[in-house]
Formats: sequence, C-alpha cells, structure tokens
Amino acid sequence: WQAEFLLKGMAAAGTCFEPEASDIFLASLPKSGTTWLKALAFATLNRATHSPSDGQHPLNHRNPHDCVGFLEFMIIQQQQQHDDAGARGLYEALPSSPRLFATHLPYSQLPHAITEEGSRCRIVYVCRDPKDVLISYWNFYKKVAATAAATAGGDGDGQDSAGVTKFEEAFELFCEGRFPGGPHWLHALEYWHASQRRPDQVLFLRYEDMLGDPVGNLKKLAAFMGCAFSEEEEEAGVVEQIVELCSLASLKGMDVNKNGSTVLAFRNETYFRKGQVGDWKNYMTMDMAARLDKIVEEATRGSGLTFAGSVSHNY
Ligand code: A3P
Repeated sequence: WQAEFLLKGMAAAGTCFEPEASDIFLASLPKSGTTWLKALAFATLNRATHSPSDGQHPLNHRNPHDCVGFLEFMIIQQQQQHDDAGARGLYEALPSSPRLFATHLPYSQLPHAITEEGSRCRIVYVCRDPKDVLISYWNFYKKVAATAAATAGGDGDGQDSAGVTKFEEAFELFCEGRFPGGPHWLHALEYWHASQRRPDQVLFLRYEDMLGDPVGNLKKLAAFMGCAFSEEEEEAGVVEQIVELCSLASLKGMDVNKNGSTVLAFRNETYFRKGQVGDWKNYMTMDMAARLDKIVEEATRGSGLTFAGSVSHNY
C-alpha cells in the first residue's frame, strides 16, 4: 500500500531508529488532521519555553510540518545526503525529552522497537470520517497536480494525463483501499486495536471530536503526553490560547503558511482548507457515501470502532 519511494524510508527507520522511552509519535492517515495535531502537540509540549500568547511563537513563522517531522520522510531526506550513520545522527541531534515525531505508517509497519511489548513510547492517533478524508485528499491532490503542471510548463488546471482526473475515479481507488498508507479503515483499525490493548501507550482521537470540543481534547492530549495543564494554567487560559494559536483560521492566516513549502515540497497553503465535518456532501451522491460506509462498516464490524457521519443505515 505504500508509495515506492517510502519503502526505503520504512526499511531504514526499522534499522536506524532507536526509540527513547519518552518519544511521542503523532500518527494519522493523510488528511485526517495531521497538521493540526502537530501544531497542538508542539505548542503544548513547548509551552514553558514558548508562551502560546507570544507573537514570536515558532508556529508564527514555521509551518507545523517544519516543527514536527515525519519519521519516514526525515530518514529518506537524510539518507539522500548521508548514509545510515548520518541518519542516526539526525535523530540523535533532535531535542530530547520528549522527542516528537509524526508518521503516516500503519501501526503494523512502525519500527518494531516502538510497538513491542514493554516499549514506553507513546502514540497519538487521529482519525477522521473516511468520506471527508477522501474529499480533503482530492482537493489536496488537485492543488498539487496543478502546481506540478504549472512548474512543468502546463496550463496548471490540475489535469495530469498520468494521474487521476475525475472524482469518480478517485472514489473507486479509495474504495479499493488504494490510498497513501493503505486502506483507511485498516489503518484506523490497527491503531484502534492498539489503543484498546495498550491505552497508556496509544491515544485514539477523532478529528470531529476535536472540532466539537477542542479544549477538552487538548487537555486529554496534554495529560496523555505527560504534561497535563495545571490548575493555574487552566485559570490563566493557557489551554484556550493554544487552541486559538493552532486554530485553522489562525494558522491559515500566517504568512509562513500562505507562502513557502515544507514536506516533499508541497506548498504550505495546501494543508489548510475548510476544516469542516461533512464536506463530502458537496462531492458525493448519497449512494456513493452509503457504499463507502458499508465497506468500512463491514471491515470494522465487531471492533467497536465507529466513524462520525455514517449514512449506511439508509443504504
Ligand atoms: P479539509 O481539506 O477538509 O479542509 P492533514 O493535516 O492530515 O493533511 O489534514 C488536512 C485537513 O485538516 C484539511 O481538511 C485542513 O483544512 C484541516 N486542517 C488543517 N489545519 C487545521 C486546523 N488547525 N484545525 C482544523 N482543521 C485543520
């Protein structure tokens, strides 16, 4: 299910990466709220050094992907410039206690040392209604394709002759499980099971819940990361300040996120769009939605995992 270029990074992470007990991993499928989770976790962990109300906060001039790297991408970039020893040096040079990484890898493809019995590493997973993930990815994909076409001298209308040009085609691929990181429901299911089995090590969050109650979910995140907010901080409004700093409107409006690029040369602005629940209704027919929900429900039946916004009871 992985892009070919990633296989090298995954293999290298397995051999070069030596986890520390305090490491925290932010896991997700693309378009599930990764950028937001990175911003929230980074601002929360570093609040003693960088006050969220400080206009000079790093998130004011660095994209969240620049603050928290992807385990599997970091190692590929480093290996292009150095060897395995260089890659190990990269990790060792990271500020420690705790180190913060992100990953799109499925739970079963994480380096074994992170997930093995007895590992103290913590993993925060964010999942989102698969229909909204697909719509978010479709919009992201079109923007990336348009930029690539424009760079290559095309007309920049997003029509990539080698790629997917119709939403219906993207929908079929998604239903087949062809998505970066693999089938949405299997990705979520693996982390869901892990969160049930090892609740102290794996926290399972939902994008929709975070939108509905950002303060409550941020407190949960902080407590899980071992840096719960104190009463004094809560009274001083620190939780709300972090929520505000990391809100879609706030991040989207920052110059750094309107310009420039970070991960894999994607433009920063492509990570910020609507941030709504149920945008799929503007793209999918009810039949399509019910079909996708049914695939997901059949794959997750009996697990206790449910997704916001299922319409399949009408199927
Ligand atoms: P939409 O395309 O539905 O708007 P990822 O970060 O995993 O790539 O996910 C991108 C999705 O998260 C996009 O969803 C984007 O708008 C939304 N998003 C980005 N930053 C956000 C934030 N600070 N708060 C809420 N949603 C955010």
